[in-house]
Amino acid sequence: MGRPIRREPMADLPQILVVDAEEEHLQAVVRSLEGVGRVEAATSSEEAWALIQASDPDVVIADQALPGIPGIELLHRAAERDAHVGRILLTSFGDTQETVDAIDRHRVEAYLAKPCLPFQLRLTVESVLERTRLERDNARLFANLVNKNQELREAMASLRTAQKRVVDSERLGAIGRMIATIVHDFRGPLAVVASTAGELDRADLSREELAGLAAEIRDETARMSRMCSELLEVTRASGGPIQQRETDLAELVEDVMARFADEAGRAGVVVETRLAPDCRVLLDADRFRRALLNLAYNALEAMPEGGELRVTAERHEDGVRVGVRDTGTGIPAEIATRAFDPFVTHGKSRGTGLGLAVVKKVVEDHGARIRITKPEGGGTAFEIDLPRFLVC
Ligand SMILES: Nc1ncnc2c1ncn2[C@@H]1O[C@H](COP(=O)(O)OP(=O)(O)O)[C@@H](O)[C@H]1O
Ligand SMILES: [Mg+2]
Repeated sequence: MGRPIRREPMADLPQILVVDAEEEHLQAVVRSLEGVGRVEAATSSEEAWALIQASDPDVVIADQALPGIPGIELLHRAAERDAHVGRILLTSFGDTQETVDAIDRHRVEAYLAKPCLPFQLRLTVESVLERTRLERDNARLFANLVNKNQELREAMASLRTAQKRVVDSERLGAIGRMIATIVHDFRGPLAVVASTAGELDRADLSREELAGLAAEIRDETARMSRMCSELLEVTRASGGPIQQRETDLAELVEDVMARFADEAGRAGVVVETRLAPDCRVLLDADRFRRALLNLAYNALEAMPEGGELRVTAERHEDGVRVGVRDTGTGIPAEIATRAFDPFVTHGKSRGTGLGLAVVKKVVEDHGARIRITKPEGGGTAFEIDLPRFLVC
């Protein structure tokens, strides 16, 4: 069948076309449809076709016996032009079996034998019109739906483009902030090294003063080297799988603390370890060492007047708990909930804000957990829980 004709919903009267070559019968039909719709009349299929094109009728009532093409053919063409048009055929006594077959074939909705009773005609026309109205409404709603769907699809596409733009610019912004932080962090120690090196030039320096300046340069370059490690660890932590091996936990901790002992000593920090013996765990030793070192340096930086750092490893039912506890200033309240986020740093002139982010990443990559607690009497405690599956 043909395409649907787009027309406004039938808010006003429906348009009816009656086609009959017998003038008298035609007028009788027109009269009986008074009030049902706006009725137009034609006496030939040619005239009817012109009216169909001019006024888009909602229903066509055609007599089968028309000059020119027969009624059924006219209805067929009307339906090809407008899929929803209502089609009623009027048949006369004596129409052949052929007509009856054609009615089936062309799916004419209704047919009436002439002469038809006015009430029967009205009823038939009204029911066909109702069907037409429903079909037209459906078609219109469907077209609306298709339209809305298309609009939605376009809106989604432009949203996606906008989102990508935001993400791209945020990424650039983040890279910019990161570079600014890194440059700022390196400027401090570089300035110290430069000015200390300048002082080395003076001829009147005693042996002790020289040693002091050299130590200062050593500390600052060590600090820069640590910052480099943190930065490198961040890039490493964001890629590459972890490489776990059976590791003696106590040995690993002692090894870390040995590297750290000199600086701790100079800062007046006493290091104490209490480590369960024969505790073998599956760790990426390099990365776990780096994580412990980050915790240790943070603790050191939180104890400018000296203090105590205690590292523990205890076995329990569900695995092993590693504790790193200091007697320092405590995590500043301002960042308490964000301390593990990258670039979060507080109360230091030179902090990358990456130390704890790396610690958390390393711990979680192992399937372990870390949390911060506030010990009684001040300071900070970190607890790393290594689950049982990491214990050999
Ligand atoms: N042991 C600690 N005691 C007190 N504050 C800490 C401790 N560890 C971390 N913090 C706080 O958390 C912040 C983030 O630490 P971190 O991610 O290592 O970055 P950074 O040390 O470069 O500032 C530090 O700036 C500090 O304010
Ligand atoms: Mg740090």
